[in-house]
Amino acid sequence: MTHAPPLREVPELRPRDRGLPVVGRLFDYLRDPVALMEHQWEHYGPVSPMNALLDRAVMVLGPDACDAVLRNRDKAFANGPAWGRIVGPFFDRGLMLLDFAEHHAHRRIMQEAFTRDRLATYVDAMHPAIARGTADWDSTEDFRSYPALKQLTLDIAADLFMGGAEHTTREEMDRVNRAFIDCVQAASGVVRANVPLTRWGRAHRGRRVLEEFLRGYLPAKRAERTDDIFSVLCHIEGEDGERFGDDDVVNHMIFLMMAAHDTSTITTATMLQYLGQHPHWQQRCREESLALGPAPSHAELESLEALDWVMKEALRLRAPVPVLVRRAERDAEVVGHRIPAGTHVMVGVQFSHLMPELWSEPTRFDPERFAPHRREDKSHRVAWEPFGGGVHKCIGLHFGGLEVKAILHHLLRHHEWHVHPDYVAPLDHHSLPFPTDGQPVDLTRTRGAA
Ligand code: HEM
Repeated sequence: MTHAPPLREVPELRPRDRGLPVVGRLFDYLRDPVALMEHQWEHYGPVSPMNALLDRAVMVLGPDACDAVLRNRDKAFANGPAWGRIVGPFFDRGLMLLDFAEHHAHRRIMQEAFTRDRLATYVDAMHPAIARGTADWDSTEDFRSYPALKQLTLDIAADLFMGGAEHTTREEMDRVNRAFIDCVQAASGVVRANVPLTRWGRAHRGRRVLEEFLRGYLPAKRAERTDDIFSVLCHIEGEDGERFGDDDVVNHMIFLMMAAHDTSTITTATMLQYLGQHPHWQQRCREESLALGPAPSHAELESLEALDWVMKEALRLRAPVPVLVRRAERDAEVVGHRIPAGTHVMVGVQFSHLMPELWSEPTRFDPERFAPHRREDKSHRVAWEPFGGGVHKCIGLHFGGLEVKAILHHLLRHHEWHVHPDYVAPLDHHSLPFPTDGQPVDLTRTRGAA
């Protein structure tokens, strides 16, 4: 009979790594999350102690440790109490914040909103929204691409999630977008209570605006079947005929819009930057796009091989969600370490994306590493995990990929752009990483608007 070796305790935090009172290592994270991860890996290994906002916390790094937490075989780690602590109560009961049996039941229904047939319909609706949204992107030397892409993805969401401008006015959509941004920005609020003029105060008001807006449209969406996600959520059924109630539809809509928005914007912006710095890749992708029509189908978008590698490489180099969080609901084990109940766990997927053990020259932009003859992402089963893993793996990964590729496809056909080879995006890490300078690119319109 063999005995499993005894579990190791998480190492003690070295005094110099305690960080500041109350906030702990928060400022180190905000300054440079990858440097913080490298430090933890070097001094403690795959499971390291972490001081963060008075909670007992650990950081897990490397593919095996990340996999153990995300796969969550013993159902010890929960999402709701961990993500809720970060995003506040503004995305309550969104799919990512549900756990265990309840999460499973909701996910089974929501999967019906992301079938291949539905994705094909969403793609058809994306093209006119993108053409309209980029119609005024004229030649500009100092084009602030990040805010422009953010507005574009919001406009696309208005069409795909709400069913477009014929149902809502521009002012109403602007008010909803503002409310939505207020909810997202609450994550970096210092005062975490409903106090006027603070981020949380604005987010509480924003959540009310979103709920009122969505509830106002619910009867119409329930009454009529259309191809937008709002209507789809009202009508889909799980395999046994289960459906979402009104509160579920509202909660899922608010969370989905949040989950879909910044992630796609960041991915598109990162691709824009690297393609601007690597003109031969831009040209290679353009040739593929010019060979297709102006509004490629779902299958055609999937056939854009070079663009697919560029997207994967962008997601590797700048994962829009660099760290995922969980809380241990009971004592758990991760790669031989005991994680006591109540511990908050930070899962540093971005670190795996940059490990020299898994990738050749990991900081270099080299999309070809995803080509069939190299497949560096297969160096470990979970070397590349920008969409997470386990039961909470991104349900919108195909939708997001199609949206990002559709936007790039339009830009490649109508524009050329350059970014200085030495440009390094100054990233803000308060919520998801975004370039604080708006990511200027030298943009030229090469063909008329679609
Ligand atoms: C490039 C774009 C995207 C990236 C990088 C991304 C990333 C992620 C990650 C890392 C998770 C896992 C969170 C965790 O395990 O704690 C996640 C979950 C989720 N994502 Fe995405 N996402 C993207 C686009 C989208 C889009 C377009 C949608 C919706 C249309 C979406 C909806 C969701 C939902 C609902 C969840 C929660 C799934 C669950 O808990 O079962 N995401 N996403």
